[in-house]
Amino acid sequence: MVSFRESQTAKNILLSYSAETQARTRYDFYATQAKDDGFIQIGKLFTETAEQEYEHALRFFKFFNGGKLSISGTFPAGVIEDTHSNLLQSAELELYVHDELYAVFAKTAEEEGFARAADTFHAINVAEKSHEIMFTELADNLVTGRVFKRDTVVTWKLRMGSRFGCALTNPHLKAPGCTYSARCSNVFSPAMPVSILLPRRYWKPCNVTRLSDGQ
Ligand SMILES: [Fe+2]
Ligand SMILES: [Fe+2]
Repeated sequence: MVSFRESQTAKNILLSYSAETQARTRYDFYATQAKDDGFIQIGKLFTETAEQEYEHALRFFKFFNGGKLSISGTFPAGVIEDTHSNLLQSAELELYVHDELYAVFAKTAEEEGFARAADTFHAINVAEKSHEIMFTELADNLVTGRVFKRDTVVTWKLRMGSRFGCALTNPHLKAPGCTYSARCSNVFSPAMPVSILLPRRYWKPCNVTRLSDGQ
């Protein structure tokens, strides 16, 4: 069995570390752009995804114990565009990462006998798949006018640490006890489906159950 330092898996992990650190920084750029474009909740989702990429980078980095290793890779060379374009570009890159990078890297790690590395690639690949789905849905929401409005009643999550949300088609229509006015609806986002991708500590469903629209 080849030593880890001389394996293809070691190079793949360092390449993955590079990809994760760049994704983390890029999503921070896109978060700022989303807020500039008026999409606060999309900006926060970019920021939260950036935090997850940081954790992925950390997991890869911890495979090494010093020294240097040469790798070669291809990475995005810009540009920061409008939020819709940034979402599409992010979804495309996540698809590439989980289909063409980590899936292959996991197989290589298994073939070289590095089970922990293979497990790590498989585990992180689940997150990358969920990122792709989320970015695709958010881009679609922008095109179809679903960022702040839904055809059916859904629970809206208040993204400012409050304990309540509103079960409405549109957070402009306030639920009882909601102290946020219509002009603040940008701080809401639909609880489903993207909330299931977020850490539980950010997700506090309200006690208001399925109110009729407009109540
Ligand atoms: Fe990642
Ligand atoms: Fe990702």
